[in-house]
Amino acid sequence: MSKNEIIDAINTLRKEKKAVILAHNYVIPEVQDIADFVGDSLGLSQQAALTESETIIFCGVHFMAETASIISPEKKVLIPDTDAGCSLAASITADQLRAWKADHPGAVVVSYVNTTAAVKAETDYCVTSTNAVRVVQSIPAGLKILFLPDKFLGSYVRQVTGRDIEIWDGACHVHEKIGEEEMQAAVVRHPGAEVLVHPECGCSTSCMLKSIHYGGNEKIEIFSTEGMVNYVRKSDNEEFLIATETGIIHRMQKFNPGKTFYPVSEKSVCEYMKMITLENLMDSLRNDQYEVKVEKSLAERARLPIERMLAIK
Ligand code: 13P
Ligand code: SF4
Repeated sequence: MSKNEIIDAINTLRKEKKAVILAHNYVIPEVQDIADFVGDSLGLSQQAALTESETIIFCGVHFMAETASIISPEKKVLIPDTDAGCSLAASITADQLRAWKADHPGAVVVSYVNTTAAVKAETDYCVTSTNAVRVVQSIPAGLKILFLPDKFLGSYVRQVTGRDIEIWDGACHVHEKIGEEEMQAAVVRHPGAEVLVHPECGCSTSCMLKSIHYGGNEKIEIFSTEGMVNYVRKSDNEEFLIATETGIIHRMQKFNPGKTFYPVSEKSVCEYMKMITLENLMDSLRNDQYEVKVEKSLAERARLPIERMLAIK
C-alpha cells in the first residue's frame, strides 16, 4: 500500500471504530501528524481519561499505555507494537523494589512516571519531571525517601530539597548520553541559543542547579517534553538547543516556522518510540491489537500513587 492509501485507511477505520489516536512527542512525524493529540506521558494519560472514545490507540511506549489504562480502566487501550518498551522503566522490577523496601523499613517510595504498573503498585507517590521537587517537599519531614528509577532526576531532587533520599541506579539509555561534554560542545556551536533540558539527561543535575553555566549561557530551562513545546511558543528567542529525543523537534518546527531548533545530539533517538509506524497503527485499528490491560487489583494499587501526585498542587 502507498503512504496515502495507509493514511486513508487509518482515517476510515478511526471513524468506524470511534477511536482516538494519542501520540507521544517522540514518535515519527507521520504518526504525530495523524494523531488526535500529541503530548507528554502524563498529559496523554490525562487526555485518555477525558476522551469520550471507548478505544484509545496509544502511539508511544508500553508504560505510557499502561498508565492510560490504569487511569481509565473502562476504556480499551491499544498499542500498535508490544515491543515498544523503555530502558528506564525496565531498570527496576517490582521484586527489586520490594527487596529495596525491605532494606529500608518505613521509607516512602517515590517513583517517576516511567515505571511499570507492577512498580507503581509498590509506590507511595508518583512524580513527573515537573512536579518531583514539589511532591517530595509535601512528604512529612524526617522520613527517609526511596527515589526511583532515574538517578539524574533523583540526585537533583535530593540536592534541591536536602531530604534523606536513597536513589535507584537507573537511567534512560538515550538521555544519559546527553552529558556535560555534549552540552558544552553544543553551546559552543550555538552560543545564542536558549537551552532546554529534559531532566533524564546526564547533564541535567548540573544544568538544573545552574552550578555550571555552559559557555556562559544563563538561559537554561528544565522541562518535560510538553513543557518544552509550550515554552518555545512563548519565548522571544529565535534559536533553541534541545536536550532530549530528537522526535520532539518536528512539532516545535511545525508550530514555530520562524524559529530554529538544534538537538544537542543528533544521536538522541529512542528506537522504542520509532517502532510505532503508520502501518502498525493501521493494523492496530483494523484488528484491535494489541490491548494493554492491567489486572484490576494491580491497577487499583497502581492508581493510588498517581492520584496522590495529582492531588498535590
Ligand atoms: P515526558 O513525560 O517528558 O514526555 O518524558 C517521557 C519520556 O519517556 C522521556 O524520555
Ligand atoms: Fe524510555 Fe528513554 Fe525512550 Fe523515553 S527516551 S521512552 S525514557 S527509553
